[in-house]
Formats: sequence, structure tokens, C-alpha cells
Amino acid sequence: MILNETYTLSNGVKIPILGFGTWFIDNQSVQQAVIDATEIGYRHIDTAQAYQNEHGVGEGIKTCGIKRNELFITTKLAAEVKDYKAAVASIDSSLQAMDLDYIDLMIIHSPKPWMEFHLDDHYTEGNLQAWKALEKAYQAGKIRAIGLSNFQITDLENIINGGTIKPMVNQILAHISNTPFELIEFGKKHQILTEAYSPIGHGELLKNEQLAQMAQQYGVSIPQLSIRYCLQLGLLPLPKTAKKTHMKNNAAVDFEISATDMEVLKSMERIKDYGEASMFPVYGGKLS
Ligand SMILES: NC(=O)c1ccc[n+]([C@@H]2O[C@H](COP(=O)([O-])OP(=O)(O)OC[C@H]3O[C@@H](n4cnc5c(N)ncnc54)[C@H](OP(=O)(O)O)[C@@H]3O)[C@@H](O)[C@H]2O)c1
Repeated sequence: MILNETYTLSNGVKIPILGFGTWFIDNQSVQQAVIDATEIGYRHIDTAQAYQNEHGVGEGIKTCGIKRNELFITTKLAAEVKDYKAAVASIDSSLQAMDLDYIDLMIIHSPKPWMEFHLDDHYTEGNLQAWKALEKAYQAGKIRAIGLSNFQITDLENIINGGTIKPMVNQILAHISNTPFELIEFGKKHQILTEAYSPIGHGELLKNEQLAQMAQQYGVSIPQLSIRYCLQLGLLPLPKTAKKTHMKNNAAVDFEISATDMEVLKSMERIKDYGEASMFPVYGGKLS
């Protein structure tokens, strides 16, 4: 069963290969979502300071009945924090918000502040400052693994060359029709595990007729096909849902997509419109 499987990060820490995304699950509802997900068998929860639900995730962790050391909790340092002192304080604020002694994985949410996502400044020095704060917390035992998110090759090189500890993870937008193969290969070369966020294209893949037909051939749903696609590429998918039936469905992915169909999926025409989510910088929007 997929929920029992793990990848091993470059520092030896084991990470469950299917995560549970919590973006857009508000602070009130997320406690129950964590309880439902862990009841089904999820052990890997993905939150972020920016989701404003860390407190609720912490409540879910406390009340779900699963031992803390059997859970894997990821959070993200806010994209706007590019200063050492502010990053140290921000890491501690996540520990406090979730009321945890340690975080399993903490990643820099974006190399650029969200409002500047499409500008040229790569915040080279600011990211090294934020990275230094993560390294310090890692060495102090507050975080078990550290990594990055939305980092392109040039941003990764900055951390690999300028940091002391190599990043263990890069969490990026990756799904059928939009898979950044070069970035994934670069990660592999540097022992960086690539996590695939929005594996269902923020829900937009559900509208694709070609995918519906292929999913039907395998007797699965489009989300199952999408999640399985990521797993077969060696990625770590992070589907989001607040519905228990969907949580179950997303974890039932013990089937195999044929090599021929994988090639079809790899070269499928890219989604141009992420619907309501298009306004977000990660989907090409500008938030302003
Ligand atoms: N690092 C970053 O910058 C970043 C950016 C975006 C996302 N993420 C992470 O990735 C996670 C997932 O991304 P996402 O929320 O953008 O999108 P996603 O997981 O690709 O898609 C979520 C959408 O798919 C629907 N869905 C999920 N499972 C389903 C199922 N089995 N059947 C039918 N519909 C289903 C959900 O609806 P229901 O809720 O109705 O089921 C929701 O509308 C986030 O929660 C977050 O943890 C990270």
C-alpha cells in the first residue's frame, strides 16, 4: 500500500511518498482534515506559514491519535522572509503555531517574495540568509530535513554553492502536461528529492477529456492517474482535498501506467488556464 512506502532523503531521513496537501483548507477545518487523513493512513502532512492553518494542523496532530514520531510534518518558511534574523524568528513561530518540538521538513516557500515572483531579482543573498537560518535550526535538532520550493536551477545552484548543507527537497509545480523534466533531472543529480505540488493541476486536470478516457481504461479516476504519473517519475505527489472519499481515492494508486501511456502523458499539451487559481504567481498570475 502506497501510504506505507517511503523515500529516503540524502541525510537518511525517511519521508512517506504520498503527502497530504492543506492549501485552501482553513484553520478551522484543517484539524478534522488531518484527523480524517491520518485515519485513512496518511502520515505526511504539508502545510505552510502562508496557508495560515499551521495552528489547526498542530491541533490535528495532537488529536489524531497517531504518535508524533509516526507523522511527517512539512511547513514552509514564508517567501517574503529573506533575512537571517527574521528567518530564525519565523522558524520558531512555526514550531509555536503547531506546538511542536520539531518539524520534519521545512522549506523556503519561494526564492522570490510572491509579489515579485515574475521579476528578475533572484534574491541570491536573501535566500542564503534564510538557508543559514534553516541550517542552524537543523543543526539544533528543531528540523529533521531542510529544503526549497519553487527553486529553479539557478536558485538551487546558489544554495548548493553558497550553503553548508545541501538541500534535501525541492517542491515544485509538476503534473501531467506540465512536468519540468530538466529541473527534476538536476535535482536527481544533486540527491534532491522533487516533490510535485498541485499534482491534479489544482483540479484543472479533472476537465481533460483525453485523461478521462485513459483513466477509464485503467478503471481509476483522473486524480488517481495524475498521482500515479508522479510516483512513476520518482516524484512525491502532494494532492489536496478536504473530502474523505477523495482522500481514500487518492491513496488507492497501486496500479501501473504502461510505458506507452507514460510517454503520452509526458508530452500532453500544457494547461494554459488554471481557472480561478490563475491569479496565483505559482500558476503564472501576479496576485495584483
Ligand atoms: N510550494 C508551493 O508553492 C505550493 C503551491 C501550490 C500547492 N502546494 C501544495 O500542493 C498541494 C496540492 O495542490 P493544490 O491544492 O494546488 O491542487 P491539487 O491537489 O492539484 O488539486 C486540488 C483539487 O483537486 C480536487 N481533488 C483532489 N482529489 C480529488 C479526487 N480524488 N476526486 C475529485 N477531485 C479531487 C480538490 O477538490 P476537493 O477538495 O473538492 O476534493 C481540489 O479542487 C497544496 O495543498 C499544497 O500543500 C504547494
